[in-house]
Parts: sequence; structure tokens; C-alpha cells
Amino acid sequence: MDGNLTNTEIREMAQRQPKIYSIVKYGDAVLEKSAAPVERFDAEFADLCEDMFASMYQAQGVGLAAPQIGKSIRLAVVDVTGGKNPEARIVLANPEIIHAEGEKREEEGCLSIPGFRGYVIRPQFVTVRAQDARGEFFEMRGEDLLARAFCHEIDHLNGILFLQHLSMLKRDLIRRKIKKLRKQGEW
Ligand code: NI
Repeated sequence: MDGNLTNTEIREMAQRQPKIYSIVKYGDAVLEKSAAPVERFDAEFADLCEDMFASMYQAQGVGLAAPQIGKSIRLAVVDVTGGKNPEARIVLANPEIIHAEGEKREEEGCLSIPGFRGYVIRPQFVTVRAQDARGEFFEMRGEDLLARAFCHEIDHLNGILFLQHLSMLKRDLIRRKIKKLRKQGEW
């Protein structure tokens, strides 16, 4: 099957307003389980990718994984320019890290753990192999923030949060603060 869209489909896409999803917060079980592979690359999936970008920009993030909008599938979107460059939009369906090298320690945060950050060591260079919104396979090499985003988002698809890369002391401190916020109804 080719990827050509009919005129009707193009009109429908042009008219469609993206759906803004709210972001699931730490404590929800969906964030800590391994997600299922994407199997259908249809128009509905392409819409979901658009909705994920829109939701990510709304939340001012540079990466968003499907479990963060409550969907346990192996899909993430990344844009380290925060929407400034349309060509920087990356859809990662069923992504895998096929090469990593170097090390970089930087502060990291997560839309699902708002208000908390911590230093995480990640590879400086990462090459991913993934499928795009149409199911086409591609490989991409990322450096620094992009490499970090690839690792952080792929971790999400495996139910891993950046907290797990912190020292036990730092992790427990953040967990205790979140627990307190939850009790106060602020989480
Ligand atoms: Ni995250």
C-alpha cells in the first residue's frame, strides 16, 4: 500500500484540531510498566502523533512518551527546539538504542514529575532505530540533549523514570516530598 492520501483525507487533516492530553503524574501505575509495541500505522495513529506533539508543546517539554498520556504503547515524540523548528519533530515508534558512546552528566526533569530535577549520567551520543508516524524505519544519531531525550523517552516505554537513575538518598527525598504533596491534594 502506498502512503498517498486522498483529497478528502487531506481536507480532514487540515480541519482537525489537535487534542491536548493532560499529563499523567508520578504515582500512576501506567508510568511504571513496560509498554506494548505499536502495530498499526493508520490515520488514527498519525493523529495521535500530532496530538502528542501538541500536548508536549502545551506542557513546554522537549519529549513526551505515550504512557505519560495514559497510553501504554511504545511511542514517544521528541523536539529539542520546543516547536521552534518543524524539522526537529521526531516520532519514535518502537524505538531501540542501537549504539551509545561517551558519558554526560546533566540535570534532567520529567513532565510527569513536575518541580523536581536531578543529575543523571547518560551517553553523550546515542543512535536510535525506530519507525516514524507512517511506520517507516529510520536511524538517527543524537548528541547531548537529543541523546538524553532519546534515552529518557525510551526509558519511559520500559516503565523507568529518571528517579531510578538518582542516588537512593536523592530519590527517597523526592518521593517523600511527592507523598506530602499528594496528602495535601497538590499532586
Ligand atoms: Ni519524562
